[in-house]
Amino acid sequence: MTRIFSGIQPTGRKHLGNYIGAIRQYVAGQDRGEAIYCIVDLHAVTVRYEPAELRERVLDTAAILLAAGLDPDRCILFRQSDVEEHTYLTWLLTSVTAVGELDRMHQFKSKSAAQRELVSAGLLFYPVLMASDVLVYRADEVPVGEDQREHIELMRESARRYNARFVPDGGPKSLVVPEHRIPQVGARIMDLQEPTRKMSTTVGPDEGRVYVLDEPDDILKKFKRAVTDSENEIRIGPDKPGVTNLVDILAAARDTTVEEALASLEGARGYGDLKVAVAEAVIDMLAPVRERYVALRADEAALEAILAAGAEKARAIAQDTLLDVRDAMGVGPGRTA
Ligand code: TRP
Repeated sequence: MTRIFSGIQPTGRKHLGNYIGAIRQYVAGQDRGEAIYCIVDLHAVTVRYEPAELRERVLDTAAILLAAGLDPDRCILFRQSDVEEHTYLTWLLTSVTAVGELDRMHQFKSKSAAQRELVSAGLLFYPVLMASDVLVYRADEVPVGEDQREHIELMRESARRYNARFVPDGGPKSLVVPEHRIPQVGARIMDLQEPTRKMSTTVGPDEGRVYVLDEPDDILKKFKRAVTDSENEIRIGPDKPGVTNLVDILAAARDTTVEEALASLEGARGYGDLKVAVAEAVIDMLAPVRERYVALRADEAALEAILAAGAEKARAIAQDTLLDVRDAMGVGPGRTA
């Protein structure tokens, strides 16, 4: 069976692009294979952050994922820092990672430029931890956005280099070279105020992004104010980024094709109708998630119990890989079992 692994940053404020592009793929992954999802709190400490807030954001993220349809009986959902094998493997994999590869990474360059005080060594090592996240489960597939391409390439290279150096004949101690799986739809969800740029957690004002947990009224307001153009003609194309984005969102929210979404708009009297149609579709999609979120988030003990049970299942897999890697690398006493 295909093993799917993905990591998600512990920011509570997930937006529509995250929801359509990542979270819905996570939910679908439960039916496609053995799905393992990790809330990456250890990655969050590589940039400036508030300790007390981090813990809260992990629980927010867990509650959003569960509210969206992750089922602890059909997937493994856990917090990265609960499974120490990730950090142990990170150290071992540094031996097959070149410093030059790390400081060439686009994400390292942009994030280190954005740091006001300290550019942490953790920021440089971020991709090695991410490689370990995936390789420690010998996962086959990694569903993440296009922006993670370089990180996926690096983890594939780390696995190949480890295999070539430490398991040259192949065999059970090898690591799996995972495949990148880029979601088709969500990759295109654009900012509502600046529709030529992807909806982002950090760039631009709040008016441009719809949060999963926004109230229906706010969702309607944001769509009504969405930037379109002066034509009032519902047509998609590169010259009409705002309208195209709204039609794409309508199709994604209704789970139909863009053609079907356009056909449904034939009687529409212009952008006003389009905006209301999109807002309603998005509200229908997100309102039940928000309601479930409120109930789930209120019970922190239950959330912690779900994460702990997930970590236990994850650890069983991760421990086995780590013992193989230690053994192959000559670290520790050698594997007996
Ligand atoms: N770097 C990823 C992001 O920012 C998050 C992440 C951490 C991840 N570890 C991972 C994604 C492992 C996939 C697999 O989105």
